[in-house]
Amino acid sequence: MNIDELKSVANAIVAEQKGVLAADESNPTIQKRFASIQVESTEENRRRYREILFTADGIERTVGGIILYDETLRQHTQDGVPFPQLLAERGIIPGIKVDQGAKALALYPGEKVTEGLDGLRARLAEYRQLGAQFAKWRAVIEIDEHDIPSPFGIRANAHALARYAALCQEAGLVPIVEPEVLMDGAHGIERCEAVTEQVLQAVFAELDAHRVAFEGMLLKPNMVIAGKLCPVQASVLEVAAATLRCLRRTVPAAVPGIVFLSGGQSAADATDHLNAMNAMEPQPWQVSFSYGRALQAPVLEAWLGQEDNVVAAQRALLNRCHLNGLARAGKYSRSMEGTA
Ligand code: 13P
Repeated sequence: MNIDELKSVANAIVAEQKGVLAADESNPTIQKRFASIQVESTEENRRRYREILFTADGIERTVGGIILYDETLRQHTQDGVPFPQLLAERGIIPGIKVDQGAKALALYPGEKVTEGLDGLRARLAEYRQLGAQFAKWRAVIEIDEHDIPSPFGIRANAHALARYAALCQEAGLVPIVEPEVLMDGAHGIERCEAVTEQVLQAVFAELDAHRVAFEGMLLKPNMVIAGKLCPVQASVLEVAAATLRCLRRTVPAAVPGIVFLSGGQSAADATDHLNAMNAMEPQPWQVSFSYGRALQAPVLEAWLGQEDNVVAAQRALLNRCHLNGLARAGKYSRSMEGTA
């Protein structure tokens, strides 16, 4: 493990103004996204859509890294340039999703654990050869009204995340560690904060036990937010304050950056929350984004699978990237929405 190399990649991904575009939807997930705009999920449509994202002129100003799916890492532009090479040439660091999805946790009904550790060392070596410099693994933690998540469910997911992160650093890839506490459900913001705190404590204890160098990783957490079905939704400032309080209690200052997932928030909410956090007092880590839906939903709506709409789709992506770049410095305001 070359810690200086890992550090410099992690720092480049979250350099000033910059964050991550999560474009690593698995085939079943992108099929759902395409179905919402009546586009068939063929290999060529997936390739074309990703090409539209990756060739949008100027995204490199605010996108430091893009997470790809296995199929995408092996695809090319229309002109035959491999996607990882295209991104690297534009100064965007290519990354790869390496988990194989959250599956039912045996004997713990209602809980999940993420699979994909078997054979991971060999897969990481191949991904590095193909040009990936960082990786992502997502653990999924659900909240119910009673006893989910259980302490064991949290521990099992934290352990898998740490095994993945250690293998990544051994292979020279920066691990993005993503423990996602879902915003599904009717729980209030306090419950989300308590669960997120327990999860992050467990994750950093396991990372430490696995000898993962905090300087050479990025954390991709959920924001602390009320469940989607909760009748009382917290304000932007409440979300920002609760999220930072939770992270400051649990995330070592040696971690270079926090790159939030959007998790089903609207594009504007995700930007607004990020902005509010960056407008508060300085934090020990960069506070940035690694959004999937909050960057891509407006792009899909503009594209609709039509070549005639490519310019509009790329403009929609650039607009979201630009606004999130401003939010990285606390310079975004809600009044900027709808002015693109
Ligand atoms: P969302 O921002 O849509 O939650 O996606 C981020 C991601 O990469 C989930 O693993």
